[in-house]
Amino acid sequence: MKRIAVLTSGGDAPGMNAAVRAVVRKGVYEGIEVFGINYGFAGLVAGDIRKLTVSDVGEKIYKGGTFLYSARYPEFASEEGQLKGIEQLKKFGIEGLVVIGGDGSYKGALALTKHGYPTIGIPATIDNDIAGTDFCIGFDTAINTVLESIDKIRDTATSHIRTLVIEVMGRDAGDIALWSGIAGGAEQIIIPEKEFDMEEIANTIRIGRERDKKHSIIVVAEGVMKADKFAAELSKYGDFQTRFTVLGHVQRGGSPTARDRVLASVFGAKAVELLMAGKGGLSLGNVENKYVENDLLDTLKNKKHITDPLNLYKLSQEISQG
Ligand code: F6P
Repeated sequence: MKRIAVLTSGGDAPGMNAAVRAVVRKGVYEGIEVFGINYGFAGLVAGDIRKLTVSDVGEKIYKGGTFLYSARYPEFASEEGQLKGIEQLKKFGIEGLVVIGGDGSYKGALALTKHGYPTIGIPATIDNDIAGTDFCIGFDTAINTVLESIDKIRDTATSHIRTLVIEVMGRDAGDIALWSGIAGGAEQIIIPEKEFDMEEIANTIRIGRERDKKHSIIVVAEGVMKADKFAAELSKYGDFQTRFTVLGHVQRGGSPTARDRVLASVFGAKAVELLMAGKGGLSLGNVENKYVENDLLDTLKNKKHITDPLNLYKLSQEISQG
């Protein structure tokens, strides 16, 4: 293999730049030409492709976002879009592709694989909801960003003896809420994977107030309920001086943590190795501290992302009473 390409797609995640950098640097180290595709699959279909040099990826490792830009591009679900994409890759003499992104991006990678085009997926989404890996690129940075906010919100909640509902990202998975909630000492963590009872939550806050507790922090994953609605519902069970905060896209930005940069660097280099070995249709993962490769089809269709392998939800209930 003499020429490969890399793209970032879907919601951006801190550490995507570090992954692109690793693909380019490892490729060049192995004597391969690496091309960057702008704007994900949209740029692929449009032929927005350029060669990347070692210098092009300098000063990128510490930057959030993605310098290759990203896009959500549902049009790539059509066979027509996929064939156009492959045509563009062939036009540039590119023999293999690295796709960095979340589940939507993986669908594109799988489609290319089904057309026989060697494609490797690198999991990058702050939601951390890709099957076959304990951690996706961007998750560690996002939970640290959320944690910073929880710590600040706690200050003001305590000053006013308030209940603060904090909405975090996570459409289908509660990973961000769970990890940041545990780290931030939240009293309640509400995730799509677990049922919750508003009356019980209200009782727990009451018990806390009775022992002179000054604040209650409730972290809610956006996939369960919007924070304003949650706060309004909770207020029906008592006057807890409830306020809410929606953290939103601040969670997707910022300089990646060391953990995300290392994960991204290893995944990037491994993707190049796999393509060089003539492999495709694989997704990279890190499971119990070991680097693994999973079948792309399995990752998307047959396996399910496990949100709580460490049983953190139970732990939060045990150590965050009232
Ligand atoms: O990247 C995943 C995610 O951050 C979700 O948690 C969130 O619901 C969604 O992206 C927001 O997407 P967009 O930025 O396209 O509105």
